[in-house]
Amino acid sequence: DHVDLRDLKSSDVGKVVLFRARLHNIRKLSAHLMFVELRQQTHTIQGILHEHGSVSQHFLYWAEHLHVESIVRVRAVIQEPKAKQGEIIGVSIHNLEVHIHEMHVEGTPTEPLPFTVHEAEVSKAETQAEGDTRHRVSDRARQNNRIIDLRTTTSQGIFRVQSGVCQAFRAHLHSLGFLEIHTPKLQGAASESGASVFKVDYFGRPAFLAQSPQLGKQMCIAADMKRVFEIGPVFRAENSNTHRHLTEFTGLDLEMAIDEHYHEVLRTLDSTFKAIFKFVYENYKEEIEVVKRQFPHDDLVWLDETPVIPFAEGIRMLNASGYRDENGNELSENEDMGTRDEIALGAVIKEKYKTDYYVLDKFPTSARPFYAMPDPDNADVTNSFDIFLRGQEILSGGQRIHDANMLAAKMEKMRMDPKTLEEYMSGFEWGAPPHGGGGIGMERILMLLLKLGDIRNATLFARDPRSLPY
Ligand code: ATP
Ligand code: AMO
Repeated sequence: DHVDLRDLKSSDVGKVVLFRARLHNIRKLSAHLMFVELRQQTHTIQGILHEHGSVSQHFLYWAEHLHVESIVRVRAVIQEPKAKQGEIIGVSIHNLEVHIHEMHVEGTPTEPLPFTVHEAEVSKAETQAEGDTRHRVSDRARQNNRIIDLRTTTSQGIFRVQSGVCQAFRAHLHSLGFLEIHTPKLQGAASESGASVFKVDYFGRPAFLAQSPQLGKQMCIAADMKRVFEIGPVFRAENSNTHRHLTEFTGLDLEMAIDEHYHEVLRTLDSTFKAIFKFVYENYKEEIEVVKRQFPHDDLVWLDETPVIPFAEGIRMLNASGYRDENGNELSENEDMGTRDEIALGAVIKEKYKTDYYVLDKFPTSARPFYAMPDPDNADVTNSFDIFLRGQEILSGGQRIHDANMLAAKMEKMRMDPKTLEEYMSGFEWGAPPHGGGGIGMERILMLLLKLGDIRNATLFARDPRSLPY
């Protein structure tokens, strides 16, 4: 039976094992001795080919000419390293190496690789060290040859953590009695913001790709589903080439009926985020260590009691810190913040509260979509919030308007035609309970948790305005 490298233990020394791996790197030391690095997902192990061990001189000559990234099947004896090991990328396996007896090639590249996985493992920090002349693979080259970059132990780590984020989201909400739903992505009307919607041809009629499961999830609440969540694609025709916008991303959304106060929604989302953080740091330690080699960062800091800061107070804190916008002006309590402002506020909050994770509540009405419930005591603000990680937005949410007349009036005020959202409007006309919810950008959690710098690093095959491969 084949073994997984990640399962090897120090007590396995002396055992003969069979496994399949990628040939990560080859180093010939002499006519009699060769080292190969063998890779499986997040793990690499050093293999020794030694003429006086159990392979022939002829075999060594053959092995020396193998292509890196070949898939090999190896029979070997596990041993403790005889000499000090070279640099091992990935998770070092309990300081073990394998003495190779047999090696068969099961697949080999037929075209030259634009760069090797071994080269792609080298971190920016390392190549910036003085005198380091190693080739650094550019971000563009990585994105253009995504399959190779996905083979790196770094990417393998990132996508294992991503899987954990979704697993924890789903498990936590199931435990709270939420129902998993799947709302349509093809819609008959441009829902929330006509400007950033993709239009497609639907048998000669216009259709639109969903900008959010917003309409569908609220309609499920009107249909008495009480508590729902969805993990699904979200499309945004935003022509913004930034480190944090994709044209297609994965939304983690929830919607729920409210008993007394919209902070029930906030508490549910807060407990969901904490369940995700806890699950990831408990179950993906090794993966995070691997990712840190290429993307050095401190673990996320969060508090038992999450700070919930009113938006206006956040603006006051930022102005009081001496921060000014690009034109040298103080920020206004009635306008949304931009990325630069958010990051600056993140630093102020980190200083004061010692946390990377916090909530801004009571967003100005002018900065929110038509369905946001106004604060009954102050129409300038809404019962809505954003959640931030390391100074950047990962979630928008809040209470929704559930009264049909109020909703129609609000849409009129925002120059929207309620007729285009007929089925959605019916849900309220036929009676809907008070409710609220939120939407998380999954890739943003990964980008900010692991400090990947660019959202593309948290996406398998990124879609942005400039690239639309396969
Ligand atoms: P920013 O774009 O300021 O960086 P963000 O990335 O969180 O913040 P938003 O501004 O909240 O994104 O929304 C992104 C795009 O989606 C905008 O072009 C906006 O018009 C549109 N949009 C805004 N609110 C919603 C919504 N509730 N549902 C769907 N689309 C929305
Ligand atoms: P919003 O538009 O703020 O709210 O989106 C929710 C979350 O999705 C992420 N996000 C993005 N991620 C990658 N690329 C993008 N272009 C992008 N745009 C947004 C962010 C953001 O916080 N219907 C509401 C949610 C709700 O109220 O339930 C909505 O879509 O992390």
